[in-house]
Amino acid sequence: MTDFYTVRVHHRQKGTDYTLKVPDNRYILQTAENQGADLPFACRNGACTSCAVRILSGEVHQPEAMGLSPDLRQQGYALLCVSYARSDLEVETQDEDEVYELQFGRYFGKGKVRFGLPLDED
Ligand code: FES
Repeated sequence: MTDFYTVRVHHRQKGTDYTLKVPDNRYILQTAENQGADLPFACRNGACTSCAVRILSGEVHQPEAMGLSPDLRQQGYALLCVSYARSDLEVETQDEDEVYELQFGRYFGKGKVRFGLPLDED
């Protein structure tokens, strides 16, 4: 049985808000687009972080979000192109390149980047 959740997306750069009905077995980005939402994206496969959002409330499931470090997932970021809703959600778009900078900005130049992703510190 498919559960549906209400997902509210605040697009901070455009000042627009979307309220979407999202099934638990479809990616949020794809469903949002089908419902007319205009949200940022690029690769659509969890690698580039263009579609990253901050989760203000609720839970997502994002097993394929390989572009997002475990650290940032824990801090409440999600990649909408590969995220499934697991509850009603409220999210907002990141600042431009925010996630990329958080992830790579402090690592590049320190010799800690291997294979394109920061190593876990622990
Ligand atoms: S569009 Fe690239 S990670 Fe989602």
